[in-house]
Amino acid sequence: MSQLTVTPVVFITLAATFLLLALDRSGELGRRQPPYVPLAKPAATAAASAVVDSEKGKPPPHNDKIENLPDGKGREVTFYTCTACHGVALIKAQGLTRDLWDSTFDLMLEKHRMPPVKAAERAEILDYLSEQFPPRRRGRGADNPFLK
Ligand code: HEC
Repeated sequence: MSQLTVTPVVFITLAATFLLLALDRSGELGRRQPPYVPLAKPAATAAASAVVDSEKGKPPPHNDKIENLPDGKGREVTFYTCTACHGVALIKAQGLTRDLWDSTFDLMLEKHRMPPVKAAERAEILDYLSEQFPPRRRGRGADNPFLK
């Protein structure tokens, strides 16, 4: 592109900019905007604060309630221990022996930095998990109601 065509483009752009600033009667483009002040945080609702991420005090990233876990002994302690970081779906998707639930528990403690749990509670949670979510029967269709 020759200099002859570039010069008018630059000139028109500059002229348009100055014209815009000159005609900016509301001062929107020139005045400094007031600093951003974030809104006050709304008070957490009772339901949302029922389960709290113990590290940061944030509500967990799901809307699961205790009823989303099957009824049984240890449901409550399992729910409040195991859903601070994820929903019940991750748990319900597994079918494991007690030993493997025990390893999963260690994984949560070591890899995902779950806060320590008392031995009695741990036993109750493992009993609940291994009873409610045991290894599934092998074979296609074991859990498929349409193949019955
Ligand atoms: C401190 C946070 C935290 C707590 C508390 C926690 N988990 Fe997890 N858990 C995680 C993270 C992070 C993952 C990985 C999530 C992903 O892959 O999306 C995970 C994944 C899982 C998985 C899926 C593993 C897989 O291989 O797919 C299971 C099952 C699970 N957790 C069970 C539990 C159980 C049972 C408890 C309670 C004893 C528990 N979690 C408590 C953080 C936690």
